[in-house]
Order: sequence, then C-alpha cells, then structure tokens
Amino acid sequence: MSHGRRAVLKAALGLGLWFSCLDSVPARADDARTARPQEGDRFVFPFGDREGQLVTLEDLPLGGPQQLAYPMDPGAKIVRNGSTLNLVALVRFDPAQLTEETRALSAEGVVAYSAVCTHQGCPVSMWQAQAKTLFCACHATQFDPRDHARVVDGPAPRRLPMLPIKLVDGVLTVAGGFTGRVGGERPS
Ligand code: FES
Repeated sequence: MSHGRRAVLKAALGLGLWFSCLDSVPARADDARTARPQEGDRFVFPFGDREGQLVTLEDLPLGGPQQLAYPMDPGAKIVRNGSTLNLVALVRFDPAQLTEETRALSAEGVVAYSAVCTHQGCPVSMWQAQAKTLFCACHATQFDPRDHARVVDGPAPRRLPMLPIKLVDGVLTVAGGFTGRVGGERPS
C-alpha cells in the first residue's frame, strides 16, 4: 500500500473514531450546535490546524478533492458540530461540468453535500481522483458530485443530500436546507 493511501485510510479511521465520540454528545432540538444548517450559515474547517476558520473559495482546488466543513451561525459564531449529521463536503468544479440541476444549487461551481454516507452513515471523507467521485471507504460507494451525488458504484441506496449554497459578499453561504434526509439507512 502506498504511503498516500495509508495516510488517507488512517485519516478515515481517525474520522470514524471521532464520529463515535461526537455521537455520544446529547442532542437537543433547541441546541444550535445540533440544529441542521440554516440559511445564512457559513462554512468552517471542522478540525486540524484551521479548525473554526472560514472555508473560502481559494481553499477548494478546482476539480476536487472535497474539503470537509461544518456550518456555522455567523451571528452567534456557533459551529454546528454537535451532530455528525451536519458534516458537509465542499467540492469545486468548472460550473460547465455540473448538471443543470446541480448547478442550480451551487455557487461559482462549488457544490455542498452531506458528508454522511446514505448506506450506513460512515463519513464520506475520501476522493477518487481519476473518476472525480466522493468515496466512502466503509463499503466503497462512489458518488458523483457533478450530478447531485448520484451513486456511481457501491451499496448506498440513494444520493447524498445536497445543501444549496450561494455567495454573499464573496463568502460561501448556505442558501437553504438539505434536499433530503441526512444519514444512513435506519435498521428495519
Ligand atoms: S457506509 Fe458508506 S458504503 Fe457503507
């Protein structure tokens, strides 16, 4: 296994542990940290050296990979990191590469999706550079971010919900709620 792939897998495993820890945070409906993204929210880095700093257009390489982010209420400066279901994947493309439906919910070619796999809820934290797809390492589902996160391969039963975004004074901003239910399949 190459060093790069080892590093990515390590990061994915780390995220898995981190997801487990955050899932133990009690969720309250009135807690802004656990509320789903709201119109007007901005995006911040979720962890690492730049945790809590705004994600800008310049932070997103054209053609991927994705940058994970949490929404933040810019007024109260509350990061909505109390629920793992709020983790978002931001990817930037040439707008001409997006399907019409996808472009309508994007800003300057940037698309935002729930980063929680619709299969069993793992973080969609990896990237397939050649196919330019979002990749869930748990059971190898690939989603096409240029086409509303259509499932290209793997067991996930549905697309990743999209989060409509817009630019406000040059800042990536949430324009509406997720287009569908976030999270994995519920056990029947
Ligand atoms: S949890 Fe993502 S493919 Fe199974």
